Amino acid sequence: MSTRIKIVFHSLYGHIYCLAEAAAAGAREVPGTEVELLQVPETLPESVLAKMGALEAKKAFAHIPVADPKQLAEADGILFGSGTRFGSASAQMQAFFDATGGLWAKGALIGKAGGVFTSSGTQHGGQESTLLGMFTFLLHHGLVVVGVPYAATEQTTVAEISGGSPYGASTITGGDGSRLPSANELAIARFQGRHLAQIAAKLAAK
Ligand SMILES: Cc1cc2nc3c(=O)[nH]c(=O)nc-3n(C[C@H](O)[C@H](O)[C@H](O)COP(=O)(O)O)c2cc1C
Repeated sequence: MSTRIKIVFHSLYGHIYCLAEAAAAGAREVPGTEVELLQVPETLPESVLAKMGALEAKKAFAHIPVADPKQLAEADGILFGSGTRFGSASAQMQAFFDATGGLWAKGALIGKAGGVFTSSGTQHGGQESTLLGMFTFLLHHGLVVVGVPYAATEQTTVAEISGGSPYGASTITGGDGSRLPSANELAIARFQGRHLAQIAAKLAAK
């Protein structure tokens, strides 16, 4: 039976979606892995999204199905990706987390592999606090936290500005969102997806 990986994200301008696709590509490199991308429900009204300049960008991933918390129970491994909001995950991602109480009550996610990734406007704008903050959700659910070991050597570079840390893949968007994930950041996201799929397969082995 295949290892089922779900990559659940919230994105307004597409940066997190880019990392999600890279992580999915990494997970698919592991033979016998089935990957599904899902986006959490958007909680902002269209009028607000329009004022934020997000409506156009969102069209690029409008084809990704909207996640139902129940779907998490079908997975062997789950990656959650959210942009940084004042040093934490987005309210949209938090709302999705809050909708998983039923799964928590049943212990439905215990023992599955879990990881997180993020993006932020500025280089030191809170990526690590966002990632570490999302860990509490994983741990309360009994997910086994899977990060990005330094075998992903791309995270050691100081030759260029780059996201990516042992806590999870990341990208820096620039204050106006114009910076796209770099090749280095995408490589770390791919590593994370592959690594999570490998660990998930081991955890799911009977
Ligand atoms: C309400 C709000 C709060 C934000 N807070 C931060 C922050 O604390 N630090 C930071 O560097 N960027 C911050 N940003 C920028 C977002 O992190 C950035 O737009 C996001 O990572 C882009 O990802 P996306 O294109 O997938 O939406 C904030 C953006 C919004 C809208």
